[in-house]
Amino acid sequence: MNVRPIIWRDSQLFIIDQTMLPAEYREIPLDCVAAVWEAMRALRVRGAPALGVCAAFGLLVALQERAPKSVRDALNAVDEAANYLATARPTAVNLFWALERMQSFAHANAEAASAGELFERLEREACAIRDEDTACCKKIGAFGAELLSEGSGVLTHCNAGALATSAYGTALAVMYAAHEQGKTFHVYADETRPLLQGARLTAWELMQAGIEVTVICDNTAAQVMREGRVQLVITGADRIAANGDTANKIGTYALAVLARAHEIPFYVAAPLSTFDTALAHGGEIPIEQRPDEEITEGFGERTVPDGVRAYNPAFDVTPAHLVAGFITERGILRPPYDAAIAACFGPNTVAK
Ligand code: MRU
Repeated sequence: MNVRPIIWRDSQLFIIDQTMLPAEYREIPLDCVAAVWEAMRALRVRGAPALGVCAAFGLLVALQERAPKSVRDALNAVDEAANYLATARPTAVNLFWALERMQSFAHANAEAASAGELFERLEREACAIRDEDTACCKKIGAFGAELLSEGSGVLTHCNAGALATSAYGTALAVMYAAHEQGKTFHVYADETRPLLQGARLTAWELMQAGIEVTVICDNTAAQVMREGRVQLVITGADRIAANGDTANKIGTYALAVLARAHEIPFYVAAPLSTFDTALAHGGEIPIEQRPDEEITEGFGERTVPDGVRAYNPAFDVTPAHLVAGFITERGILRPPYDAAIAACFGPNTVAK
């Protein structure tokens, strides 16, 4: 799986425009900070780790646009752009994590001899964020592959693949690793209403990788479970609170409840950059509300009577007690999650 949704080439930022898939594979340049913000808001680039990586490079784009004359001007430009990019989407914590890391790095390098030198250092830091994410995804895949048994069925929701990260993915990394180990298995991909990340993106990715995939309507999940087609559910995450409550694409909570009802293990695959130990529980996670039109006239076709409103939260929160384990780059975290998560982050960064 060689798909890389965020490309930093000759000091220029490009992304795969995910709104065009699967009909068209197109790389588009993001040459101003407003374009980076718009690409994130419009889901041209999406998925928690990918948002973080894109925002890190977005700060470089902001510096190129501003062309600061001094280190002080450059630091101001970084702060301004970080505040602006942080407003693109509220739920995926990786966005804020990456922006804060770049900002702290910039201020810790205030002794750079020139704005140009600071830019070069920040460029290396953004590349490090990207490369560390790829390494985490590889480890998540390696740790998770043991959960996938030969001949089994696995259900996933939304897209937690290469397109949602710097490369390889989180939930899909588990499948790529199992596939590389020669295991055969079948993936059921929820289509993921209303924006169809499962049907458009997950199915596209798995097909590229030669992994057998069948798309189902979201409301078919219970039936495939009852028919015994699924032995494992794995999703990604946008933000995980200190107690393990997990925000992910709307519909994930329903899937976790169904998995419990059918005694099928429900796993969440995510790097530690997706954990927000400042939040005690999932009730504190901000949930993005998206426009009605994504439901009432998704993909250009009006499917709801004129004048009828829609309710369109982009994410829901799965309570920790429904999660069998968190597949991270440090291994699989098991309950009790408050202790397991605190152990990963150390005593000074644990929940309030
Ligand atoms: O609205 P999206 O497409 O950005 O939502 C993405 C998800 O919910 C993913 O499952 C999550 O970010 C995990 S990505 C590895």
